[in-house]
Amino acid sequence: MTTSCGKVILFGEHAAVYDHPALAVGIPDGVRAERVEPTDGPIRIRVRPWDLEADETGPGAVGRGLILLDELVPGERRGMQADLVANIPPGAGLGSSAALSVALVRSLGRVRRADLSDWDVHRLAHALEEVFHGQPSGLDDTVATFGGLCLFKRGGLDHSPEPDHQRLTDQAVRLPWRLPPLVIGHTGVPRSTADMVAAVRRQHDTDPARVEDLFATVDACLADGLQALRDGDLDGLGAALNRNQEVLAELELSCPEIDSLIGLAAHLGASGAKLTGAGGGGGVVAVAPGREDALLEAWRAAGFAAQVVRFDLPGESR
Ligand code: PMV
Repeated sequence: MTTSCGKVILFGEHAAVYDHPALAVGIPDGVRAERVEPTDGPIRIRVRPWDLEADETGPGAVGRGLILLDELVPGERRGMQADLVANIPPGAGLGSSAALSVALVRSLGRVRRADLSDWDVHRLAHALEEVFHGQPSGLDDTVATFGGLCLFKRGGLDHSPEPDHQRLTDQAVRLPWRLPPLVIGHTGVPRSTADMVAAVRRQHDTDPARVEDLFATVDACLADGLQALRDGDLDGLGAALNRNQEVLAELELSCPEIDSLIGLAAHLGASGAKLTGAGGGGGVVAVAPGREDALLEAWRAAGFAAQVVRFDLPGESR
Protein backbone atom coordinates (compact mmCIF):
# COMPACT_ATOMS: atom_id res chain seq x y z
CA MET A 1 0.00 0.00 0.00
CA THR A 2 1.36 3.43 -0.96
CA THR A 3 1.45 6.05 1.79
CA SER A 4 3.31 9.20 2.76
CA CYS A 5 3.71 11.23 5.96
CA GLY A 6 2.30 14.54 7.07
CA LYS A 7 4.62 16.49 9.36
CA VAL A 8 4.79 18.64 12.46
CA ILE A 9 7.59 21.21 12.54
CA LEU A 10 8.89 21.53 16.09
CA PHE A 11 11.57 24.14 15.38
CA GLY A 12 12.79 26.19 12.45
CA GLU A 13 9.93 26.87 10.03
CA HIS A 14 10.77 29.84 7.78
CA ALA A 15 14.37 29.81 9.08
CA ALA A 16 14.69 26.57 7.07
CA VAL A 17 14.14 28.54 3.85
CA TYR A 18 17.31 30.57 4.69
CA ASP A 19 19.51 27.50 5.29
CA HIS A 20 19.00 27.34 9.04
CA PRO A 21 18.33 23.91 10.58
CA ALA A 22 14.82 22.69 11.32
CA LEU A 23 13.41 19.77 13.29
CA ALA A 24 10.20 18.03 12.25
CA VAL A 25 8.46 14.72 12.83
CA GLY A 26 6.41 12.68 10.37
CA ILE A 27 2.74 11.85 10.92
CA PRO A 28 2.49 8.40 9.32
CA ASP A 29 -0.28 7.75 6.82
CA GLY A 30 -0.73 11.44 6.04
CA VAL A 31 -1.98 10.51 2.55
CA ARG A 32 -2.74 6.92 1.51
CA ALA A 33 -3.41 5.64 -2.01
CA GLU A 34 -6.56 3.52 -1.79
CA ARG A 35 -6.99 2.47 -5.41
CA VAL A 36 -4.57 3.13 -8.27
CA GLU A 37 -5.39 1.89 -11.79
CA PRO A 38 -3.12 2.27 -14.83
CA THR A 39 -4.83 4.00 -17.76
CA ASP A 40 -3.95 5.03 -21.30
CA GLY A 41 -5.32 8.51 -20.65
CA PRO A 42 -4.06 11.46 -18.55
CA ILE A 43 -3.36 11.31 -14.83
CA ARG A 44 -6.58 11.75 -12.82
CA ILE A 45 -6.71 12.01 -9.04
CA ARG A 46 -9.39 12.10 -6.39
CA VAL A 47 -8.50 12.99 -2.79
CA ARG A 48 -10.96 12.40 0.03
CA PRO A 49 -11.96 14.18 2.25
CA TRP A 50 -10.38 17.24 0.64
CA ASP A 51 -13.01 17.29 -2.13
CA LEU A 52 -10.17 17.44 -4.63
CA GLU A 53 -10.73 15.97 -8.05
CA ALA A 54 -8.32 16.94 -10.82
CA ASP A 55 -6.54 15.87 -13.97
CA GLU A 56 -3.74 17.21 -16.12
CA THR A 57 -6.07 19.49 -18.03
CA GLY A 58 -7.26 21.14 -14.81
CA PRO A 59 -6.59 24.77 -13.90
CA GLY A 60 -4.10 26.12 -11.41
CA ALA A 61 -1.24 24.55 -9.51
CA VAL A 62 -2.77 21.07 -9.24
CA GLY A 63 -3.17 20.73 -13.03
CA ARG A 64 0.39 22.04 -13.55
CA GLY A 65 1.70 19.70 -10.84
CA LEU A 66 0.09 16.68 -12.53
CA ILE A 67 1.62 17.60 -15.91
CA LEU A 68 5.02 17.79 -14.23
CA LEU A 69 4.41 14.47 -12.46
CA ASP A 70 3.66 12.88 -15.85
CA GLU A 71 6.87 14.31 -17.30
CA LEU A 72 9.16 13.43 -14.40
CA VAL A 73 8.26 9.89 -13.33
CA PRO A 74 10.23 7.44 -15.51
CA GLY A 75 9.20 3.99 -16.72
CA GLU A 76 6.34 2.80 -18.96
CA ARG A 77 4.36 5.71 -20.42
CA ARG A 78 1.05 5.06 -18.64
CA GLY A 79 -1.46 7.39 -17.06
CA MET A 80 -3.36 6.56 -13.87
CA GLN A 81 -6.59 7.01 -11.99
CA ALA A 82 -5.60 7.40 -8.33
CA ASP A 83 -8.06 7.50 -5.40
CA LEU A 84 -6.32 8.82 -2.31
CA VAL A 85 -7.38 9.33 1.30
CA ALA A 86 -5.87 12.15 3.35
CA ASN A 87 -5.68 11.86 7.13
CA ILE A 88 -4.44 15.41 7.62
CA PRO A 89 -6.35 18.60 6.80
CA PRO A 90 -5.10 20.77 3.92
CA GLY A 91 -3.58 24.19 4.63
CA ALA A 92 -3.11 23.38 8.32
CA GLY A 93 0.69 23.55 8.46
CA LEU A 94 0.94 19.74 8.52
CA GLY A 95 2.62 19.34 5.14
CA SER A 96 -0.46 18.32 3.17
CA SER A 97 0.90 19.24 -0.26
CA ALA A 98 4.19 17.41 0.31
CA ALA A 99 2.30 14.34 1.56
CA LEU A 100 0.16 14.45 -1.59
CA SER A 101 3.22 14.93 -3.81
CA VAL A 102 5.01 11.93 -2.31
CA ALA A 103 1.91 9.71 -2.52
CA LEU A 104 1.45 10.68 -6.19
CA VAL A 105 5.08 10.04 -7.10
CA ARG A 106 5.01 6.63 -5.38
CA SER A 107 1.66 5.72 -7.01
CA LEU A 108 2.73 6.65 -10.53
CA GLY A 109 6.11 5.00 -9.95
CA ARG A 110 4.29 1.72 -9.25
CA VAL A 111 2.00 2.10 -12.26
CA ARG A 112 5.03 2.70 -14.51
CA ARG A 113 7.12 -0.03 -12.83
CA ALA A 114 9.81 2.58 -12.18
CA ASP A 115 12.31 1.49 -9.57
CA LEU A 116 12.25 4.60 -7.37
CA SER A 117 14.32 4.75 -4.19
CA ASP A 118 13.17 7.00 -1.33
CA TRP A 119 15.87 9.40 -2.44
CA ASP A 120 14.34 9.53 -5.96
CA VAL A 121 10.86 9.98 -4.47
CA HIS A 122 11.85 12.95 -2.32
CA ARG A 123 13.68 14.59 -5.24
CA LEU A 124 10.67 14.24 -7.59
CA ALA A 125 8.24 15.32 -4.87
CA HIS A 126 10.39 18.41 -4.28
CA ALA A 127 9.90 19.39 -7.94
CA LEU A 128 6.12 19.13 -7.45
CA GLU A 129 6.37 21.15 -4.25
CA GLU A 130 8.04 23.91 -6.27
CA VAL A 131 4.83 24.12 -8.30
CA PHE A 132 2.61 24.10 -5.19
CA HIS A 133 4.76 26.30 -2.92
CA GLY A 134 7.10 28.46 -4.95
CA GLN A 135 10.39 28.05 -3.07
CA PRO A 136 10.08 25.18 -0.62
CA SER A 137 13.05 24.48 1.65
CA GLY A 138 12.71 20.73 1.06
CA LEU A 139 11.88 20.03 4.71
CA ASP A 140 8.29 18.97 3.97
CA ASP A 141 9.09 16.61 1.11
CA THR A 142 11.95 15.03 3.09
CA VAL A 143 9.74 14.27 6.10
CA ALA A 144 6.80 13.22 3.87
CA THR A 145 9.10 10.67 2.20
CA PHE A 146 11.19 9.32 5.08
CA GLY A 147 9.08 9.97 8.20
CA GLY A 148 10.46 9.84 11.75
CA LEU A 149 12.14 12.66 13.68
CA CYS A 150 14.18 14.53 11.06
CA LEU A 151 16.85 17.18 11.48
CA PHE A 152 17.05 19.10 8.19
CA LYS A 153 19.27 21.82 6.76
CA ARG A 154 18.73 22.95 3.19
CA GLY A 155 22.36 23.83 2.42
CA GLY A 156 23.53 20.51 3.86
CA LEU A 157 24.23 19.41 7.45
CA ASP A 158 27.47 20.92 8.76
CA HIS A 159 29.03 17.91 10.42
CA SER A 160 29.03 14.18 9.87
CA PRO A 161 26.18 12.51 11.71
CA GLU A 162 26.66 11.10 15.19
CA PRO A 163 26.67 7.27 15.33
CA ASP A 164 23.01 7.02 16.37
CA HIS A 165 21.85 9.46 13.62
CA GLN A 166 20.63 7.86 10.42
CA ARG A 167 21.70 9.75 7.31
CA LEU A 168 18.68 10.19 4.98
CA THR A 169 19.99 12.68 2.40
CA ASP A 170 22.81 15.25 2.28
CA GLN A 171 20.36 17.58 4.00
CA ALA A 172 18.74 15.36 6.61
CA VAL A 173 19.32 12.81 9.37
CA ARG A 174 16.78 10.83 11.38
CA LEU A 175 17.17 11.02 15.17
CA PRO A 176 16.42 8.08 17.47
CA TRP A 177 14.88 9.88 20.44
CA ARG A 178 11.46 9.31 21.95
CA LEU A 179 8.88 12.02 21.48
CA PRO A 180 6.09 12.92 23.89
CA PRO A 181 2.52 12.95 22.53
CA LEU A 182 1.95 16.13 20.53
CA VAL A 183 -1.36 17.96 20.77
CA ILE A 184 -2.25 19.67 17.51
CA GLY A 185 -4.87 22.44 17.37
CA HIS A 186 -6.29 23.73 14.10
CA THR A 187 -7.11 27.42 13.82
CA GLY A 188 -9.35 26.72 10.80
CA VAL A 189 -7.90 29.91 9.29
CA PRO A 190 -6.80 29.20 5.71
CA ARG A 191 -3.60 30.76 4.41
CA SER A 192 -1.13 30.10 1.65
CA THR A 193 2.36 28.90 2.50
CA ALA A 194 3.71 30.76 -0.54
CA ASP A 195 2.18 34.05 0.73
CA MET A 196 3.59 33.59 4.23
CA VAL A 197 7.05 32.73 2.86
CA ALA A 198 6.83 35.85 0.64
CA ALA A 199 5.88 37.99 3.67
CA VAL A 200 9.02 36.86 5.53
CA ARG A 201 11.07 37.39 2.35
CA ARG A 202 9.94 41.07 2.29
CA GLN A 203 11.09 41.51 5.90
CA HIS A 204 14.39 39.79 5.09
CA ASP A 205 14.92 42.04 2.04
CA THR A 206 14.15 45.17 4.08
CA ASP A 207 16.25 44.36 7.16
CA PRO A 208 18.30 41.17 6.77
CA ALA A 209 20.26 41.73 10.00
CA ARG A 210 17.07 41.87 12.09
CA VAL A 211 15.61 38.72 10.54
CA GLU A 212 18.92 36.82 10.74
CA ASP A 213 19.17 37.80 14.44
CA LEU A 214 15.72 36.30 14.97
CA PHE A 215 16.74 33.15 13.08
CA ALA A 216 19.85 32.89 15.32
CA THR A 217 17.44 32.74 18.27
CA VAL A 218 15.52 29.98 16.46
CA ASP A 219 18.82 28.07 16.05
CA ALA A 220 19.36 28.36 19.82
CA CYS A 221 15.80 27.13 20.50
CA LEU A 222 16.40 24.14 18.23
CA ALA A 223 19.68 23.31 19.99
CA ASP A 224 17.95 23.51 23.40
CA GLY A 225 15.04 21.43 22.09
CA LEU A 226 17.41 18.73 20.81
CA GLN A 227 19.20 18.59 24.15
CA ALA A 228 15.84 18.42 25.99
CA LEU A 229 14.64 15.56 23.75
CA ARG A 230 17.90 13.71 24.27
CA ASP A 231 17.48 14.13 28.05
CA GLY A 232 13.71 13.46 28.09
CA ASP A 233 13.27 16.93 29.64
CA LEU A 234 9.75 17.94 28.57
CA ASP A 235 9.74 21.24 30.48
CA GLY A 236 12.96 22.18 28.68
CA LEU A 237 11.37 21.18 25.37
CA GLY A 238 8.29 23.29 26.14
CA ALA A 239 10.39 26.34 27.09
CA ALA A 240 12.26 26.07 23.77
CA LEU A 241 8.96 25.83 21.86
CA ASN A 242 7.68 28.94 23.64
CA ARG A 243 10.80 30.89 22.72
CA ASN A 244 10.55 29.82 19.07
CA GLN A 245 6.93 31.05 19.10
CA GLU A 246 8.05 34.49 20.36
CA VAL A 247 10.30 34.78 17.31
CA LEU A 248 7.51 33.69 14.96
CA ALA A 249 5.21 36.30 16.52
CA GLU A 250 7.90 38.98 15.97
CA LEU A 251 7.92 37.94 12.32
CA GLU A 252 4.15 38.65 12.27
CA LEU A 253 3.33 35.02 11.60
CA SER A 254 0.90 34.62 14.49
CA CYS A 255 -2.80 35.54 14.41
CA PRO A 256 -5.56 35.88 17.05
CA GLU A 257 -6.64 32.24 16.69
CA ILE A 258 -3.06 30.98 17.13
CA ASP A 259 -2.72 33.23 20.20
CA SER A 260 -6.00 31.84 21.63
CA LEU A 261 -4.88 28.22 21.17
CA ILE A 262 -1.52 28.99 22.79
CA GLY A 263 -3.17 30.95 25.62
CA LEU A 264 -5.48 28.02 26.40
CA ALA A 265 -2.51 25.62 26.35
CA ALA A 266 -0.61 27.80 28.82
CA HIS A 267 -3.72 28.11 31.03
CA LEU A 268 -3.98 24.30 31.17
CA GLY A 269 -0.34 23.99 32.25
CA ALA A 270 1.18 22.83 28.94
CA SER A 271 4.99 22.84 28.95
CA GLY A 272 5.00 24.83 25.73
CA ALA A 273 3.22 25.57 22.46
CA LYS A 274 3.90 27.25 19.16
CA LEU A 275 2.47 27.62 15.69
CA THR A 276 3.67 24.91 13.33
CA GLY A 277 4.20 25.37 9.59
CA ALA A 278 3.89 28.63 7.73
CA GLY A 279 1.69 30.43 10.31
CA GLY A 280 -0.86 33.19 9.71
CA GLY A 281 -3.44 30.49 10.50
CA GLY A 282 -2.92 26.75 10.16
CA GLY A 283 -1.95 24.71 13.21
CA VAL A 284 -0.49 24.92 16.70
CA VAL A 285 1.58 22.19 18.37
CA ALA A 286 1.68 21.81 22.15
CA VAL A 287 3.54 19.57 24.59
CA ALA A 288 1.32 18.98 27.62
CA PRO A 289 2.56 15.91 29.50
CA GLY A 290 -0.34 14.10 31.20
CA ARG A 291 -2.76 16.83 30.15
CA GLU A 292 -3.13 15.96 26.47
CA ASP A 293 -6.78 14.94 26.67
CA ALA A 294 -7.69 17.93 28.86
CA LEU A 295 -6.09 20.27 26.34
CA LEU A 296 -7.84 18.52 23.46
CA GLU A 297 -11.19 19.04 25.20
CA ALA A 298 -10.44 22.68 26.05
CA TRP A 299 -9.50 23.48 22.47
CA ARG A 300 -12.56 21.69 21.13
CA ALA A 301 -14.81 23.46 23.65
CA ALA A 302 -13.41 26.75 22.33
CA GLY A 303 -14.47 25.73 18.82
CA PHE A 304 -11.16 24.47 17.39
CA ALA A 305 -10.60 21.07 15.79
CA ALA A 306 -7.77 19.21 17.52
CA GLN A 307 -5.96 15.89 17.61
CA VAL A 308 -3.30 14.08 19.64
CA VAL A 309 -0.45 12.34 17.82
CA ARG A 310 1.14 9.65 20.03
CA PHE A 311 4.50 8.05 19.30
CA ASP A 312 5.06 4.40 20.22
CA LEU A 313 8.61 4.06 18.99
CA PRO A 314 11.15 6.72 18.13
CA GLY A 315 9.80 8.44 15.05
CA GLU A 316 6.68 6.30 14.74
CA SER A 317 3.19 7.30 15.73
CA ARG A 318 -0.17 5.63 16.06
O1 PMV B 1 2.75 25.26 6.43
P1 PMV B 1 3.49 24.23 5.66
O2 PMV B 1 3.13 22.83 6.04
O3 PMV B 1 3.40 24.46 4.19
O4 PMV B 1 5.07 24.38 6.06
C1 PMV B 1 5.85 25.45 5.57
C2 PMV B 1 7.22 25.44 6.19
C3 PMV B 1 8.08 26.67 5.79
O5 PMV B 1 9.31 26.58 6.54
C4 PMV B 1 7.40 27.97 6.16
C5 PMV B 1 8.41 26.68 4.30
C6 PMV B 1 9.42 25.63 3.86
O6 PMV B 1 9.45 25.36 2.65
O7 PMV B 1 10.18 25.09 4.68
